[in-house]
Amino acid sequence: MKIVELERQHVPAVALLHKKYIDRGFMSSLGTAFLEQLYDSMMTSDNAYCLVAEEDGELHGFISGTYELRSFYKDFIRTNLLRVSLILLPRLIEPSVFRKVVESFIYPSKQGNMPGAELMSIVVSEKFRGKGVSENLFNNLLAEFKQRNVKKFKVTVGSNLQAANRFYQKMGGMLHAEIEVHDTEISRIYIWEI
Ligand SMILES: CC(C)(COP(=O)(O)OP(=O)(O)OC[C@H]1O[C@@H](n2cnc3c(N)ncnc32)[C@H](O)[C@@H]1OP(=O)(O)O)[C@@H](O)C(=O)NCCC(=O)NCCS
Repeated sequence: MKIVELERQHVPAVALLHKKYIDRGFMSSLGTAFLEQLYDSMMTSDNAYCLVAEEDGELHGFISGTYELRSFYKDFIRTNLLRVSLILLPRLIEPSVFRKVVESFIYPSKQGNMPGAELMSIVVSEKFRGKGVSENLFNNLLAEFKQRNVKKFKVTVGSNLQAANRFYQKMGGMLHAEIEVHDTEISRIYIWEI
C-alpha cells in the first residue's frame, strides 16, 4: 500500500467513500457531485491537501486537511462558482439546507482564536480498518503540516462517530470544546499542538 497525493482519477472514489462513511455529515447530504467538486478543488488550491492510501488501483482510504479553512472555501467557491451553483441551487430552496450552507460557510469565522489549520476529513474503507492505514494517513498529514510550519490544527467531529473520536484521542488530540454546528448536532473539537 502506498500513500500518494490526490489525483484526478481518485476523486470519484474519494467522494463515494466520504458519502458512504460520513453519511450524516452535511457535506454528504449535498451529494457525490458536490463532494467531487470539493475534493477536486483540493488539488488546485494552495490552502488544502489531500492524500490517498491505495494498492493496485484500489482506494483504502484518504485524509484531507486545510492550512486555512476560510481561504480554502474562498478558493473552492471562486473556482467552482458555476458548477457548485448548479448543484446547490435546486437544494437551496429547502430552508434547512439554505441555513446549513450558511452555517457551514460562516462556521470558520465563528472559531475565534482557534487554529486555522484543520483536518477536514479522514475515511478508511471498512475492510481496511484496524490495520494502521488511518495512523499512516494521519502521520503523513502531520508531516505536511509541520513542513508548512503549522503550529496547531484542529478537527471538528460529530460526537456520535465513536471510532473517529476514539481515533483522534489515540492520535493525541486534546478535547477543546463541544459545539452545535447545526443546532441539534453536537460536535467535538480536538486540537493538536505540533
Ligand atoms: C476514523 C477512522 C478513519 C479510523 O480508522 P480505523 O482503522 O478504524 O482506526 P483504528 O483501528 O485506530 O480504530 C480507532 C479506534 O476506534 C475504535 N473503534 C472502532 N470501531 C468502533 C466503534 N464502532 N465504536 C467505538 N469504537 C470503535 C477502535 O477500537 C480503535 O480504538 P483502540 O485502538 O483504542 O482500540 C475509521 O474508523 C473511519 O473511516 N470511520 C468512518 C469515517 C469517519 O467517521 N471519519 C471521521 C469523520 S471526519
